[in-house]
Amino acid sequence: MHVVEAHGARIPTIGLGTMTLKDDVCVQAVKTALAIGYRHLDTAAFYGNEKENGEGLRASGIRREEVFITTKVRENNLTPDNFQRSLDQSLLNLGLPSVDLLLIHWNNPEIPFAVSVGALCKAKKDGKAKHVGVANFTTTMLDEAWKVTTEPLVCNQIEMHPFINQDKVLATSRKHGMAVVAYCPIARGKVPGAEVLERIGKTHDKSSAQVSLRYLVQMGVVAIPRTATPEHLKQNLDVFDFALSADEMADLKKLNATNMRVVNPPHAPKWDTP
Ligand SMILES: NC(=O)c1ccc[n+]([C@@H]2O[C@H](COP(=O)([O-])OP(=O)(O)OC[C@H]3O[C@@H](n4cnc5c(N)ncnc54)[C@H](OP(=O)(O)O)[C@@H]3O)[C@@H](O)[C@H]2O)c1
Repeated sequence: MHVVEAHGARIPTIGLGTMTLKDDVCVQAVKTALAIGYRHLDTAAFYGNEKENGEGLRASGIRREEVFITTKVRENNLTPDNFQRSLDQSLLNLGLPSVDLLLIHWNNPEIPFAVSVGALCKAKKDGKAKHVGVANFTTTMLDEAWKVTTEPLVCNQIEMHPFINQDKVLATSRKHGMAVVAYCPIARGKVPGAEVLERIGKTHDKSSAQVSLRYLVQMGVVAIPRTATPEHLKQNLDVFDFALSADEMADLKKLNATNMRVVNPPHAPKWDTP
């Protein structure tokens, strides 16, 4: 099992992203993923599929302890009472007493970090989350959160793929010893067909999606691609038997200049500029 370690957390390097997977599609995707070797599931209160993640886990027959499960609390639930209510509902949905990793999904600028991060840390102290972390935090937000946290923030989950430059937030996450978890690791479907990735893929007998995932993995980043297609599930896990050369990594890095951010909702922070 390939893992990225941070502050005592051992996060499987490839996880299954489950945003948009609903009902039985989600249950079956989780079950199939676990059957073929995935040991990391990514869900969120916002995705409306925690119940299906839990069902898929139980249907797989894989022991709970073997699977790393992440869920998230939304930006409108970051005051202590709301936070606890949201988390308790998530655990009820999942059918679990605790998750492996609990994240603040998006910061809420109206709630001081001492309050939101305080609520996050309480969840860990209460035994409802083994580890805690954040998502969509910028360099400034990371530094501020670290000033007040009483528990290590083990990861920053951010958008990462070859078409975006995240050097600054990557460096700040690493400065704090955090793992970086890449969401949209195949740029939400924009990777397949992209010329440079297709060309590199051909030389390794791999798909462009596998090249994108390998690029991230080789940077020491965790990736959580989403698919319910069995062939894609298999492909996305099969990125550990080849290596990209320094020249290939450099060619992929050049694509960062595309500056394509897939996820940028109204509640997004002012992102770090490259
Ligand atoms: N923290 C946050 O704010 C945040 C934001 C966005 C996402 N996320 C998490 O990150 C996960 C991944 O991001 P995402 O779902 O937005 O985008 P993504 O994983 O980059 O892209 C998903 C798309 O790629 C396609 N795909 C997957 N594997 C493929 C393969 N091997 N070959 C060709 N196409 C492939 C899928 O189509 P098929 O279904 O046809 O395979 C789907 O259309 C989410 O599911 C969620 O868990 C977190």
